[in-house]
Amino acid sequence: MSLIRSLVFLFLAALCLLPASGCHKRPGIVWELAPDGKQPKARSVAELAERYDSEHCGECHQEVYRQWKNSIHARPLIGTGRTVGSLGATITSGLMEWGYSGVTDFKDVRLEHLMTCAKCHLPQLAEATDDVAREIAGDLSRWADAKSEEDDGKLAEVEAKLSSLTIGCLVCHNRNAIVHKWTDGYPLPKTVYGSKGEGHFCGFYPKSAKSPVLGESIFCGQCHGQGPNFEFDNPTQCTTAYSSYLFSYRANGGKEECQDCHMRKQKQGHDMRSYTDPRMSSVALDFTMEAVFLMLGDGRNKTQGVAASVTMVNRAGHSIPDG
Ligand code: HEC
Ligand code: HEC
Ligand code: HEC
Ligand code: HEC
Ligand code: HEC
Repeated sequence: MSLIRSLVFLFLAALCLLPASGCHKRPGIVWELAPDGKQPKARSVAELAERYDSEHCGECHQEVYRQWKNSIHARPLIGTGRTVGSLGATITSGLMEWGYSGVTDFKDVRLEHLMTCAKCHLPQLAEATDDVAREIAGDLSRWADAKSEEDDGKLAEVEAKLSSLTIGCLVCHNRNAIVHKWTDGYPLPKTVYGSKGEGHFCGFYPKSAKSPVLGESIFCGQCHGQGPNFEFDNPTQCTTAYSSYLFSYRANGGKEECQDCHMRKQKQGHDMRSYTDPRMSSVALDFTMEAVFLMLGDGRNKTQGVAASVTMVNRAGHSIPDG
């Protein structure tokens, strides 16, 4: 047995010595291709934000832009307010306390540390250098300081900077628009992916192409979670909406895509939200209650009571709440 183990070990060690082997790939970085495949890695938050800027798209797609800007996709490092704090806490109460993470100070944070959250909260971070990871870590630390000092001006300034990093038009309509890249190819530079693919009227992005997945749940599933992300050296788990959708909703005969409920049916378009949108919370549950008032006891001792029977049926396409 130990001989077999030694052989396996030697074989793996030999693989690592080969120049082009998988061992040279940094762990935990999911997919590093920029929309313009040949661009060098972004070296600052400003450069990464500029590369994925949605303002420009909004000049023509004004209504879509307005809807998107109202959604949490426009501030995935802030969220409803809880995300920014928990990203910082991941560094201070996680990475800094774990014996083998290599992080004892904000300055030690590298890309792969942040990718355990950015895989979904900011997938394009994979196209940035470790300097950008350190810059973001520094901003998260400044945010925590501003919060404890109750310095509203500083808080607003840091949040504005972090909000420049978004799940914007080009993340969905280029970078993440193709899931099966060996089958359908890698997203092309200067191309927006939609349902038609008949050309595009924009100087910077003059081409358009058909995305095979944009209208289907698998597209959202890329970020909306199946379970622990085992590909990381330290797996994370944040959401399991997609797994619950597949194995509960679809398995029980549900037929609608994420896009049906979250974009099409109530004409929310790109304003994809949850309970903060009354249109969504009003269809989330079927709620019925039957109550019977009771009067118990004999002539001397009387007790009043209520017997209630409550039925709640989840009408979302997955378990709620999630995350
Ligand atoms: C690139 C990754 C990514 C893709 C693709 C994506 N999302 Fe999201 N989405 C997120 C992240 C991250 C958040 C949460 C940010 C936060 O709260 O910090 C979010 C938030 C949401 C929310 C709001 C949740 C709440 O608590 O209010 C809804 C609804 C949503 N997404 C639906 C969708 C749907 C539907 C699709 C597909 C059409 C989709 N998303 C595609 C990453 C993504
Ligand atoms: C979270 C992912 C996501 C983001 C961010 C996003 N979109 Fe979309 N977009 C979609 C999906 C999914 C559809 C398809 C909806 C459907 O099939 O009903 C779509 C549809 C569209 C369409 C119609 C496409 C067609 O084929 O006819 C346009 C135009 C568009 N988006 C523009 C934008 C612009 C501009 C932005 C930025 C302001 C943006 N989108 C941001 C996911 C996204
Ligand atoms: C100069 C104006 C202009 C700008 C800037 C612009 N678009 Fe468009 N775009 C259009 C028009 C016009 C259409 C066709 C009508 C429609 O589908 O809305 C279109 C169509 C699209 C489609 C559907 C394409 C298809 O083949 O199905 C997507 C997706 C899209 N745009 C995304 C974007 C994104 C992302 C950006 C920013 C990088 C952007 N657009 C910038 C004018 C513009
Ligand atoms: C049958 C309709 C339906 C389908 C299909 C559906 N959703 Fe939802 N989803 C809802 C409703 C309704 C809510 C609002 C729940 C609430 O108000 O708390 C919701 C809430 C959410 C939330 C927020 C959860 C929370 O904790 O507040 C996210 C994220 C989300 N959906 C993403 C998705 C994704 C991704 C898919 C596809 C894999 C999907 N949904 C499919 C109806 C649907
Ligand atoms: C598999 C993708 C994925 C990973 C990895 C991930 N998240 Fe999330 N996260 C999401 C999505 C999608 C949502 C939004 C909605 C939901 O609850 O389903 C979310 C929501 C959240 C929320 C709740 C926001 C709110 O206001 O309710 C927090 C906080 C959060 N994420 C922090 C983190 C941190 C910190 C990490 C890294 C340790 C991380 N996430 C890793 C996808 C992910």
